[in-house]
Amino acid sequence: TRVVVLISGGGSNLAALLEAAADSAYGAVVVAVGADRPGCAGLDVARAAGIPTFVERLGDHPDRDTWDAALTHAVAEYAPDLVISAGFLKLVGARFLAEFGGRYLNTHNALLPSFPGIHGPREALAYGVKLAGATLFVVDEGVDTGVIIAQCAVPVLDDDTEESLTERIKVAERAQLVEYTGRLARQSWRVEGRHFIIDG
Ligand code: GRF
Repeated sequence: TRVVVLISGGGSNLAALLEAAADSAYGAVVVAVGADRPGCAGLDVARAAGIPTFVERLGDHPDRDTWDAALTHAVAEYAPDLVISAGFLKLVGARFLAEFGGRYLNTHNALLPSFPGIHGPREALAYGVKLAGATLFVVDEGVDTGVIIAQCAVPVLDDDTEESLTERIKVAERAQLVEYTGRLARQSWRVEGRHFIIDG
């Protein structure tokens, strides 16, 4: 299973995927890594592993649709079976979803449908929930609204800060992303309405 990973940041999820994919029994192979900005640390992680990289900056295009088409083209070059957003901070458009919809996955650092958007851990802490976590889902046209593949929970501790909770979530999130990417590569799966079903 060919996987293209999209990132905007540090790439710790990417690093975990690359480590797992080093074992051929894992089933998924990262064939390229794309970013929406140069200079993010995740691109160095990819380069160090000898994986091809590409960057499509929104600001280099006259409008969002043109950027979306360029991103779609860049990803399609690598003929992926799955595209994974691992901390990719841009919403893709209609063109991208027409090409990769149903096989474009995102990992979010909150237990959806609570706390969508870019401040999941901060909002979970402010709300006072006792469980936080991460959600792996199939991206649709909405923001963090797609069909849920898997969720994992971690406790919120009384002395947590945004940083400490974010880190605790990320540990569980990485393990979940690695486990499910491998399962989706090795097993058959389907979506029935709101339900994501993995066979076997
Ligand atoms: C993840 O926690 C993801 O949920 C959030 O950004 C983080 C990406 O971290 N949107 P990294 O770049 O994989 O280290």
